[in-house]
Amino acid sequence: MLRYEIPWPSESITPGIHCSDMEILIMRGTHVAHGAVWILLAAELFYADSIAADMPSARQSIPYVATRHDTVRDMLWLADVGKDDVVYDLGSGDGRIVLAAVRDFGARRAVGIEKDPNQLLESRENVKKAGLADRAEFVQGDLFDADFSRASVVTLFLGHRPNLKLRPRLFGTLRPGTRVLSHQFNMGEWEPDKALTVRTVFLGLWGEMWNPYQDNPCVPDYSANEMHFGRSDKVMMWVVPAPVAGIWRGKVETLDGPRDYQLTLHQRLSEVSGTFQLSGAKPSSGGIRADLWGDQVRYEGIPSGIPYGRFQIRFDGHASGDSMKGTLAIADPNRSYEAAWEGRREKVGMAGEWEWTSATGDRPVRLRVDRRDSRLVATYLDRDRQIPVLDFYDFGGGFYFTLLIGREGSSLTITEDTGWLIGEGVIDQGELKGRMDFYPYPRVDLSPGPDGKRTVKPEVHQEWTPRRIKP
Ligand SMILES: C[S@@+](CC[C@H](N)C(=O)[O-])C[C@H]1O[C@@H](n2cnc3c(N)ncnc32)[C@H](O)[C@@H]1O
Repeated sequence: MLRYEIPWPSESITPGIHCSDMEILIMRGTHVAHGAVWILLAAELFYADSIAADMPSARQSIPYVATRHDTVRDMLWLADVGKDDVVYDLGSGDGRIVLAAVRDFGARRAVGIEKDPNQLLESRENVKKAGLADRAEFVQGDLFDADFSRASVVTLFLGHRPNLKLRPRLFGTLRPGTRVLSHQFNMGEWEPDKALTVRTVFLGLWGEMWNPYQDNPCVPDYSANEMHFGRSDKVMMWVVPAPVAGIWRGKVETLDGPRDYQLTLHQRLSEVSGTFQLSGAKPSSGGIRADLWGDQVRYEGIPSGIPYGRFQIRFDGHASGDSMKGTLAIADPNRSYEAAWEGRREKVGMAGEWEWTSATGDRPVRLRVDRRDSRLVATYLDRDRQIPVLDFYDFGGGFYFTLLIGREGSSLTITEDTGWLIGEGVIDQGELKGRMDFYPYPRVDLSPGPDGKRTVKPEVHQEWTPRRIKP
């Protein structure tokens, strides 16, 4: 087995930025316009930080760089912030987003979470001067532990890695429908629901250039996401989706009487796919094309074995816990009708130890899912290693997770097993059924074959049906 250890994700810049580096940067900057020096410095600082945020040993700080006031307005406008909103800015700096939310957009309340006491002093002073201290609050704390569950809008200007680190907490604590805004930095393979290109010139992050997955939008470490050399900046918005994965059952009142209806939904963050089954004298089944926006579920059925348009089925409704209610419309060439539909999700147990053959095909690997304090936590078990799966999502009747195998703390150990593993499954009659993707790193086999040639390792995309070996 070949083993290489490299700092992750860059091989040339160590986590944390040293004073001497900053001085060199400023000296170099004297050759360019003053504004550009600042942006360059900010970009470097961001890069150093975006690595450091996950590492216990490294300097754990995200530096202060303010969002431009016009970009603040763009973010709050994109989220359509209004009088019913409670806005949380995680890492609130001088408090400008909090202040703009209550002052310019009439938010009911806005809260900044900030760890730097000087920033807190300044931001409290700013809202006091504006006479808005009764609706704007600043809390000293660590944004990674803070309680922001009351938010209807969350704003971030942190870094790509901090965003990914925060992602499972955003899903775990925020209500479906909450809008999450990020200035500049993406959320990996969680696609934004809205994106806006704004004016600020941003020079890009050096670290992103070395990300081996930067061209692959399917993996979480996909870069932040495009380079922005001399181009515009971005603000993005995600709507936190309801957990809808699982098997849903209900009756459909048709002109021929009640018929049993089953919907199976697979969920990969905000992306939903699945199947429908309508029983009766003329049964129908097929795939669905679905859209999930907060708790709103919409889909169109694609019946199997029927020419397009001969039989149509559509649904528009809302999911809440294990109940889904809405309107189901069915049309065939003779008639069409719409009726209220209510489905209940089958209750399932996901805890246990699930085993399958590794993506490299040479050994069994396992995922242990435990229930702790009413939450599911997962551990990946491979040979004698036990790796906590921090990016894990309980979607009700199924789950989703991502794991970069080989990463331990600040380094990536490269062996033939190294790569991104992404799994998704739904419990169907006690069995887990879903999809597994594996993106190997590096893509080229490091150990040449007997003929001296190196081969390109294929990505693995396959059905995933692990066996439950322990309850
Ligand atoms: C890039 S600034 C963004 C400031 C503000 N949100 C804006 O957009 O203008 C990031 C802020 O997060 C704060 N910060 C960094 N790490 C933090 C943590 N773990 N908990 C709370 N605040 C943090 C920094 O002090 C800094 O003020």
